[in-house]
Amino acid sequence: PEAITVQELANRMAEKGADLVKALFKMGMMVTVNQTIDQDTAELLVTEFGHNLTRVSASDVDIDTAGDVDAAETLKPRPPVVTIMGHVDHGKTSLLDALRGTDVVAGEAGGITQHIGAYQIKTKNGDLVTFLDTPGHEAFTEMRQRGANVTDIVVLVVAADDGLMPQTIEAINHTKAAGVPMIVAINKVDKPEANPQRIRERLLEHEIVVEAMSGDVQDVEVSAKNRTGLDDLIEKILLQAELMELRANPDREAEGTVIEAKLDKGKGPLATVLVNRGTLRTGDVLVVGTQSGRVRAMTDDKGRQIKEATPSMPVEVLGIGGVPHAGDTLTVVENEARAREVAAYRQELATERRTAIAPASLDTMFSALA
Ligand code: GTP
Ligand code: MG
Repeated sequence: PEAITVQELANRMAEKGADLVKALFKMGMMVTVNQTIDQDTAELLVTEFGHNLTRVSASDVDIDTAGDVDAAETLKPRPPVVTIMGHVDHGKTSLLDALRGTDVVAGEAGGITQHIGAYQIKTKNGDLVTFLDTPGHEAFTEMRQRGANVTDIVVLVVAADDGLMPQTIEAINHTKAAGVPMIVAINKVDKPEANPQRIRERLLEHEIVVEAMSGDVQDVEVSAKNRTGLDDLIEKILLQAELMELRANPDREAEGTVIEAKLDKGKGPLATVLVNRGTLRTGDVLVVGTQSGRVRAMTDDKGRQIKEATPSMPVEVLGIGGVPHAGDTLTVVENEARAREVAAYRQELATERRTAIAPASLDTMFSALA
């Protein structure tokens, strides 16, 4: 990773590639501009051309908010983020639809979830709950592997007529590994062949002891089709959320996590982002994974244009320079130069073409890159 091509080094030093080749020749090295040289040689060249050496480390360039904890008095309650998981066709999307009182399933090709939907609903009492619908467990696992634990609570959907299936077990294991509390929604209880008790018994084999079996995992019988048990489910989610005392500081520069992203032919890169803390506003300058940008517009889950997004809110963000990855973090920074600097640094890390050398200062390094 500590190698660099002659041309790249020349670009960073704002020198001609050919001049570097000449200098290398004088040093007894026959290389072309496209060949790589090692760090020691690169350092020699940099000094030879009269530039200063600056060692660039992550702490010099990148944003590290890990140790940046909000003071207790700045924290305000935030809505829970609930991920719906379960085996294929057990009714995740239908349940979410029922909860939203709308119908997305009808609009999906073949009724199979094509993407992660992120929605926020308002309950009768005015409480907000954010729901994430997953097309499988890959996205969840990937996000978890990347350290993006956005989920507060998992609702495990199990079809009462089908029982515990491979992806049900997978979901149980992922949830346990993530240390996230689970609520079991036994769905399709309207079906004549439904056997909810059998599900509860089978769950014991996976050390899930539901309340109905005197355990501490909340369970609820629902029918997404007949819209029964929904209030009960919401109530259990809110009860669980209350125990967790979910809080975030809304009065700071925003941080978020990319839930999904795509390239829209007309609009350009679009990312669905969940705000983790702070308030995201139109005009904010961003670093999102290896991309930089500025929030040009934000759309909520109902397709409305909004100017601000607060903690636990999912929003579609327009204005990122490229398409980020699910699980990427979003950070608001002070200006575009800073955003470009961080994004450029991360891109270099990502492509493993980074060298530990920069000429003169970081400013010249990045102006040479621009
Ligand atoms: P994937 O996204 O493909 O994993 O499926 P899903 O879990 O989102 O299931 P989906 O909501 O698409 O529902 C699958 C099928 O089950 C559809 O035909 C639904 O109409 C049906 N279904 C969902 N909930 C119920 C229910 O409560 N009762 C009955 N009878 N059918 C249901
Ligand atoms: Mg679905």
